[in-house]
Amino acid sequence: MDITQFPSWQRLTNLAEDMHGRHLRDLFADDPQRAARFSLELPEFLFDFSKNLLDDEIFVNLLQLARDAGLESWRDRLFSGQPINRTEGRPVLHPALRGELPGDVKVDSVSVEALVANELGRLKEFVNLLHNGDLIGCTGKSITDVVNLGVGGSHLGPEMVIEALRAYRRDEVRIHFVSNVDGAQLADVLTQLNPDTTLFVVSSKTFTTTETMTNARSALAWFGSLAPRADLLQRHFVAVTASPEKACAFGIEPQRVFRFWDWVGGRFSLWSAIGLPIAMAIGFDGFRALLDGAASMDRHFRQAPLEQNAPVVMALVSLWYCTFMGYPAHAILPYEQALHMLPAYLQQAEMESNGKSTTRAGEEADYRTGPLIWGMLGINGQHAFYQYLHQSPEVVPADFIGSVAPGHGLPGHHEILLANMFAQSQALMNGVSRGEVEKQLAARGLGRDEIRQLAPYKVHSGNRPSNTILLRKLDPHSLGALIALYEHKIFAQGVILQIYSFDQWGVELGKGLAAALQPQLESGDCHNQDASTAGLINYYGRVKAG
Ligand code: F6P
Repeated sequence: MDITQFPSWQRLTNLAEDMHGRHLRDLFADDPQRAARFSLELPEFLFDFSKNLLDDEIFVNLLQLARDAGLESWRDRLFSGQPINRTEGRPVLHPALRGELPGDVKVDSVSVEALVANELGRLKEFVNLLHNGDLIGCTGKSITDVVNLGVGGSHLGPEMVIEALRAYRRDEVRIHFVSNVDGAQLADVLTQLNPDTTLFVVSSKTFTTTETMTNARSALAWFGSLAPRADLLQRHFVAVTASPEKACAFGIEPQRVFRFWDWVGGRFSLWSAIGLPIAMAIGFDGFRALLDGAASMDRHFRQAPLEQNAPVVMALVSLWYCTFMGYPAHAILPYEQALHMLPAYLQQAEMESNGKSTTRAGEEADYRTGPLIWGMLGINGQHAFYQYLHQSPEVVPADFIGSVAPGHGLPGHHEILLANMFAQSQALMNGVSRGEVEKQLAARGLGRDEIRQLAPYKVHSGNRPSNTILLRKLDPHSLGALIALYEHKIFAQGVILQIYSFDQWGVELGKGLAAALQPQLESGDCHNQDASTAGLINYYGRVKAG
């Protein structure tokens, strides 16, 4: 049944209209227990969702909407390996990578658990070789530098996690990332490296992505005549892919091809062999702790009742704003330097999953689906775009993310950081009324005219909602739980809004056009192009020719 036809949807539509006339300040004033009632404490973090434009009636109806949408049965279908990625005809089994399936799920008659265990064993062995100095390049020297060549899901997860876990890095090896086909990035990384001691990890689910394959070919060429091509490929390249036959055809040794499977979506793949650079950076035990943290969130998502289920509540809050209240964007604001890549990572995770407008029934959705995700380190954002968050006419709900324990030993810093995080969500919630502004200006001795002129600019309407996720400590386990929290939130939101979250047809169109355009940039022939594109090709050709 079309989700918009349920009574819960209709009630929420009406409740959203009412909520536009209410203020968060009043919701708190009316209910001294609000913060406690609208917070969830998990082993890894406190999730405070009290600063949201919700009341009991809205919350109850949102939960009803989730039930109407069959969320619980979709959740069971995910964990039991049913082909819920229907447009690609695949199950969605990234939880299997952290060992958290309730039963022995088989895909094509093969036990998923056994596949995962086998591949993890191979990764562990390889990572140990590296850390023991037993990975030797063509000239007899140990590998000291690893370059991950991959883009999107084959890049963002590993780099985001390694950055987040800087404090856990081992020093036997340095990890570099090249995702861009703009040769400037690869060229820059290569200047820091010695071919004798460098290993490339070609990470690509499909092993066809132009950016990655171009970088892989250039990386191979960089070795020059150091050794015969076959030896270079054998000692200086490994592959991580769901298309092992293509990696072997490229020339990479079968023993050095680490695999994952088409039932792992690219943007959900950091838990698979795609996480090889993570295990290299923080050690296999650290990688295991990351998987265990995600597994604990998997259990919570599977077992907690909907009203106490953090990913479900996050999904409901998010769709409440995007779909019912008319706030199409959502900001991710980490207050932890180490999480600086989290907004970029979540942009792919959420927007490639839920940035869609065709329903599961193949109809055009006549409601907003997933939000536009954006953000950056909160403390830096305060000095950049927070003006917009506080006083623009647009309301942008936000997630504030920080940890109780600092990731460093410098005294005094962490309290300033957290005080800012708490203050910002408070300021967004409460704002400052005209009356309060006038009082403050009068107390500073301003005259009546001056107050009248200045006051409107200093008014903050407030009523701008946010979640706060306060980790006990940022470590591999809690990071795993945090990432899995968002993964399940994305899934739950997609299910309720009746879209398929695990395909990404929208990225294909541009890829195909780029492939067709590339030779035209060389030849200058643009007869079949629209006038704008033809103009760009002509300008390119003119300037290039001098
Ligand atoms: O272009 C988007 C995308 O298809 C992502 O879904 C994926 O993570 C990325 O490209 C990289 O793809 P691959 O791992 O196959 O190189």
